[in-house]
Amino acid sequence: MRLEGQRAIVTGAAGALGRVIARVLASEGADVAGLDLNAEGLEATAELVRAEGRRSLSATADLTDHAAVKSAVDGIVAEWGGIDILLNGAGGGAVAWFHEMTPDVWATQIERNLTTVYNVTNAVLPSMLEQKHGRIISIASIAAVSGGRLVRGATAYAAAKAGVVGLTKALAIEVAEQGVTVNAIAPGAQATPGRDNDTPERRAALLDQIPTRLLGEPEHLAQAIVFLAAPEAVNITGVILPLDGGHSI
Ligand SMILES: NC(=O)c1ccc[n+]([C@@H]2O[C@H](COP(=O)([O-])OP(=O)(O)OC[C@H]3O[C@@H](n4cnc5c(N)ncnc54)[C@H](O)[C@@H]3O)[C@@H](O)[C@H]2O)c1
Repeated sequence: MRLEGQRAIVTGAAGALGRVIARVLASEGADVAGLDLNAEGLEATAELVRAEGRRSLSATADLTDHAAVKSAVDGIVAEWGGIDILLNGAGGGAVAWFHEMTPDVWATQIERNLTTVYNVTNAVLPSMLEQKHGRIISIASIAAVSGGRLVRGATAYAAAKAGVVGLTKALAIEVAEQGVTVNAIAPGAQATPGRDNDTPERRAALLDQIPTRLLGEPEHLAQAIVFLAAPEAVNITGVILPLDGGHSI
């Protein structure tokens, strides 16, 4: 119960990693509000949170829409009186070759992976500054630090996730004296349904690039987030933590 009594927002809570993170935060004592486009998926996650004996809230919103995000976050803050932990997990990549990439593909990737982080963090931060306590943790990617080592054709995604890294470090400095820490995780390939279609050859080639020869386990990633969210992490800020089996070395 390292997060007893904490109130968390998890974006992308209907997704593969977001659902596990929401459940694990709840198992450590946190109440969890999920934000996602997918209402049905949010409800399934909320059930897991309630099964851990914690309160849940769900808000269906397109997180690229600043006004919609502000309204959803204001509703959660009004209901719970504040937010202690923000986990920015919404996002996702699309493979597109740079020489034929159209502006709409570029813009969609930047909006989905970077603007969403700005929108939600911008909406949550005032309440954290007011209570002089907060933990902001974003999911970046190995792509932010190693380009296309994981997937070729990831330029827009890599650029957006590198933006998350820059935002994390700059905001960490900006709010450091006000009780708010800002960190990011940079996962390598995770054992999520997104990898289910790997051919044996593709999987072998991928594992060959990873020094530990292991895909990341979502449960382990969630535990790293618990660590960064816990009271003992008060002096850890501006860190980009790779969870990639050494892939980015
Ligand atoms: N799975 C991996 O191997 C891996 C590796 C590195 C980084 N990541 C990052 O981790 C995060 C979660 O990945 P995942 O594998 O769980 O993906 P996922 O597709 O299962 O989940 C992503 C969730 O984000 C939501 N989302 C996307 N755009 C949104 C928007 N505009 N508004 C509201 N919700 C939106 C989706 O509805 C979905 O539920 C992503 O940011 C991804 O880039 C994943």
